[in-house]
Amino acid sequence: MAIKIPKPPVPGVRRKPKPPSEPRENGRVPLTKQAEEAGVGIVGWVDERTAASGFLRGFLFRKVPKGTNWYYTLGSATLFAFLSQAVTGVVLAMYYTPSATQAYESARHITNDVFLGEFVRGMHKWGSSVMVILIFLHMARTFFFGAYKYPRELNWIIGVVLVILTFVMSLTGYLLPFDQRSYWATIVAANINGTGPLVGPFLSDFLRGGADFGATTLSRFYAIHMMLVPVLIAALIGAHLYLVAKLGTTAPPWLRADKDEKLREERV
Ligand code: HEM
Repeated sequence: MAIKIPKPPVPGVRRKPKPPSEPRENGRVPLTKQAEEAGVGIVGWVDERTAASGFLRGFLFRKVPKGTNWYYTLGSATLFAFLSQAVTGVVLAMYYTPSATQAYESARHITNDVFLGEFVRGMHKWGSSVMVILIFLHMARTFFFGAYKYPRELNWIIGVVLVILTFVMSLTGYLLPFDQRSYWATIVAANINGTGPLVGPFLSDFLRGGADFGATTLSRFYAIHMMLVPVLIAALIGAHLYLVAKLGTTAPPWLRADKDEKLREERV
């Protein structure tokens, strides 16, 4: 007698969900209905394979302290300024030539001839000041709210490195138009670095790419501005946001922990 072996159970996540009964026209689901659900279908398809929705839910629907206010948006505003600099910078790099003989001319070409060139260059130039102002305001917010204290010291240290890297971006970007002002201002900046104790002379030699200011200096500044520092900033922002998600944000100082622990958190 043949023994009937039951089929092994199909794991829940692998089982294909039963499609809901669709209203059909001539045996087919109407095109409008298909279009309506295409987005949901794609999101579901990706989620089933990556479980990304769990991560996103944890990241976006975090508990935040009661009293969270507009000052808490300064970090995200800094992030937006950085992203805007990255996008406009890539567009500028498509037309800019980092050579001592062609840099000035290529920057002039962007402003005068390229479609929307002046606009994108302006966005990048003014955006750099906006980013510096926002990063300072964000730093002041975290300082005055005491967010640098345990357990967020590491996030504060990452922040300090981010400020320094933002300054390096400002310094290296300033030279790139290679006009009289940027040329002489950068010579002054390299000389000021040279006056620092012990490391000063090495630092100014490194910045110039040798004893003299010239074509190598421009290539060096371009490589630092375009590749090295943006990658470092992006990686550090990733670590910074990971820690924000992991540790949560600090309650405003006027809500004391010892008053009422329950009052300090609410879900948004
Ligand atoms: C590119 C630069 C930066 C970006 C994109 C960024 C982004 C953010 C974001 C989105 C948050 C969470 C929301 C908020 O509190 O605003 C945050 C929190 C924080 N950031 Fe930054 N940040 C940057 C630079 C800095 C700097 C320069 C510091 C300080 C030196 C810093 C220290 C902190 C601290 C301590 C927190 C936790 C705040 C809390 O617990 O309430 N960040 N950052």
